[in-house]
Amino acid sequence: MPKLEKTDQGVVVLEYQDLLSGKDLTKHIQEALGNSPTALGVIFIRHVPNLLPLREEALLKSLEHSKLPRFIQEETAHPQSNFLTGWSLGKEWVNQKPDISKGSFYANPLQQEPIQTTEELRARFPVYLHDNQWPRPDLVPGFQDAFCQLGKLIHSVGLSLAQHCDAYIAQHVPKEARVPLVESLQGPATTKGRLLHYYTNDANSSSAEQEDEDSWCGWHVDHSFLTGLTSPRYTREGQEVLGAELDSPSLLIRDRWGTLHSVSIPQDCLSFQLGQALELASQGHLLATYHCVRRSPDPTLSRDTFALFLQPPLDLTIFHRDPNLFKNPSGMGPSTTMTFGEYTEQVVGRNHVKEKATAFS
Ligand SMILES: [Fe+2]
Repeated sequence: MPKLEKTDQGVVVLEYQDLLSGKDLTKHIQEALGNSPTALGVIFIRHVPNLLPLREEALLKSLEHSKLPRFIQEETAHPQSNFLTGWSLGKEWVNQKPDISKGSFYANPLQQEPIQTTEELRARFPVYLHDNQWPRPDLVPGFQDAFCQLGKLIHSVGLSLAQHCDAYIAQHVPKEARVPLVESLQGPATTKGRLLHYYTNDANSSSAEQEDEDSWCGWHVDHSFLTGLTSPRYTREGQEVLGAELDSPSLLIRDRWGTLHSVSIPQDCLSFQLGQALELASQGHLLATYHCVRRSPDPTLSRDTFALFLQPPLDLTIFHRDPNLFKNPSGMGPSTTMTFGEYTEQVVGRNHVKEKATAFS
């Protein structure tokens, strides 16, 4: 078993080669994501081949796209998918307000268009079952390719991590009640990539908002099974600013005891955290990561990053309620089972109305 290594901030770090080695990593999963009292709900995977150039390329494209005129960006805005395909700015409600602090570009990097869908399914699950909407190639050359290459890389690493999560779950959940993660994450239908550009501060933000710990993205748990994240890239007037993340970590996490942790993702690592769907599917043995993003204290900095949400098929049952064994943390509905599609309907419905809720992503 590889030595258990943690960063100064308490995040477990695994070498990518160890992830592929077939070694027993259940202790690492427990310590990072499982029932260890010191688990933060985050794990770093270090030395992933090609991560550095693919991250750089995608985050540069994000910055380039952020500079396009708004009316051009809006060409890919897609109300039919609740603005969870193509460009989205000011459509998601965070902390009871439209979120205008960041722009997001959503697409499925694994497939350009949904397979085997119907109008009925598209109407019921608009978030996933639409074709990707890309900016015109002459506007940001290479945007689609950079997005998809990075997304595919994170997906493949996430599948390798999911193998070890499966092994950990097998130690705690009876076979008949398990949801196989690797198998359920291989299908591409619900995979969602999100390229994010956090704007520099502006006159619209009050000083109180600037000081809020969740000023860039409100406290929430993700909707996914697993969320893969790159290290953010900071810029000032188009020039990269190194070290900003170390000076003031942007990702904040509250552990299960309510203790606040600041987490900086190193450039040579991919970070993975857990979404609420996996908490449900693992019967609470893997807990969703409660997190937010704090604005940089330097108002002249912008921030780009990429997240990939690894998610199961819409018809997969992710939750069997047994009140004697498991308390549903979300307090959802009276049904005794829930598919990922049903779960999605509830979450997306809440996020685009004026109330504080679990965020889609
Ligand atoms: Fe999130």
